[in-house]
Amino acid sequence: MAQSLLRPGTLSSPVRRGTVRGTYFVQTWGCQMNEEDSEQIGLYLEELGFVPAANPQEAHVVLLNTCSVRKKPEDKAFSFLGELRAFKAARPEMVIGVAGCMAQLRADEIKHRNPFVDFVVGTAQVSAIPGLVEEALQSRRFAKRTDLPERKGSVVTDIPQRNVSRTAKLKAFVPIQYGCDKFCTFCIVPTTRGRERSRPTEDIVQEVRRLAEIGTQEVTLLGQTVNSYGKNLAEGRVPFSKLLRLIAGVPGIRRVRYTSPYPRDFKADVIEAIRDVPQVMEHCHMPLQAGHDGLLARMKRLYTVESYAQIVADLRAEVPNVGLTTDIIVGFPGETDEEFQHTLDVMERFRFDGAFMFKYSPRPGTPAATMEQIDKQVASDRLDKLIKTQQRIQCEINEGLVGREFEVLVEGPTPKNPNLMQGYSRCFRMLHFPAPADFRGELVTVKVTEPHLWGLVGTVV
Ligand code: SAH
Ligand code: F3S
Repeated sequence: MAQSLLRPGTLSSPVRRGTVRGTYFVQTWGCQMNEEDSEQIGLYLEELGFVPAANPQEAHVVLLNTCSVRKKPEDKAFSFLGELRAFKAARPEMVIGVAGCMAQLRADEIKHRNPFVDFVVGTAQVSAIPGLVEEALQSRRFAKRTDLPERKGSVVTDIPQRNVSRTAKLKAFVPIQYGCDKFCTFCIVPTTRGRERSRPTEDIVQEVRRLAEIGTQEVTLLGQTVNSYGKNLAEGRVPFSKLLRLIAGVPGIRRVRYTSPYPRDFKADVIEAIRDVPQVMEHCHMPLQAGHDGLLARMKRLYTVESYAQIVADLRAEVPNVGLTTDIIVGFPGETDEEFQHTLDVMERFRFDGAFMFKYSPRPGTPAATMEQIDKQVASDRLDKLIKTQQRIQCEINEGLVGREFEVLVEGPTPKNPNLMQGYSRCFRMLHFPAPADFRGELVTVKVTEPHLWGLVGTVV
């Protein structure tokens, strides 16, 4: 049942710990960075005295954390706002805020199309959210906070401080870098997230220490091009491989992963860290995007198929069990049948263990959006063909793994069958296996008995 709404006047009193002022709901679209920001938003709202609501209908504060990387998540956010319109009409005290990449990009349009929105807040202003919520509760004036910090000169100073959840989590994501300097011609991220800014090494290590103290065993370092980490730091350049070693050395951390590295910056020191540091997982998600040099050049990806192939060869030579996954875009402007065929051929050649495959989505304001677009049906057919090819390859790879043993960090029961536990291997394969519930948080060895498209079934040995 819906709880009674607090009146704005009752909410301006100073927060006392343990005093519940109302409920909040955060709806998230997009990448792990957004998931992370949503967790930060939740922590801020909890500090203000709000507790999670089961659904947006009954929440006092509703935040949308939006994504602009393709058109689809933008459409979803607008239709979610459409649904909120009726709730807000019934309960005008409800506070509605829009955050994330679409808020950064289309703040005025969001307000124009949805006048009931209380505030729009950009990607670099997450820490302004508690203040915006308080303001909205007291005055119903619209607020917009979309400043994006510029990188002034060579050193970055305005890097946000982060809250660390007090709730124990087995696995945690830790941003190490914000923004991106690569400007791939299809990509909106440099516009929505701003210039590349590395977080100070000590801040990252401190956060990981605190996570380890509350029971986190695995951390995933987040950034758009993680292996360019470390430029523009006041303390001087810190190579990504050094950061990996520092994080791996934090007591209690048993596994370290990262996403995503950029192919051109993938150097020998990172490969050596994967090979030599026991905590660094043997998984690499390295977006390739296309299998033809002409396409890569038009995308302004700063590598060729052969230079990518060299990294794959070096990585597989040094780390034979490495799990390699990638991102591919089909239907990029001007993509010919022949160019697409090269992408298919490259999938057969590299045999990725997994791939996120996307149909190109024109992003207004990016160079590729003004290039000559290809037929939508042709692009859809190519995506189907690519997905089928990759699925076959994945099935073949997984069939070849029957009888193999993997170290798995037990995360808990599978969603469908509570008697089966699940977890990932060090090379980032999902495994399901019968085990008691108190195995959660343990590292176990699982022997594969059954291959599936999504992963593997096995038994604990
Ligand atoms: N930083 C990552 C990419 C971040 S965006 C990198 O190293 O490349 C995540 C993925 O979304 C990209 O790898 C790309 O495959 C896809 N993507 C980005 N913009 C897109 C667009 N306009 N249309 C379709 N897919 C896109
Ligand atoms: Fe986007 Fe290319 Fe950066 S895909 S996030 S501009 S590396």
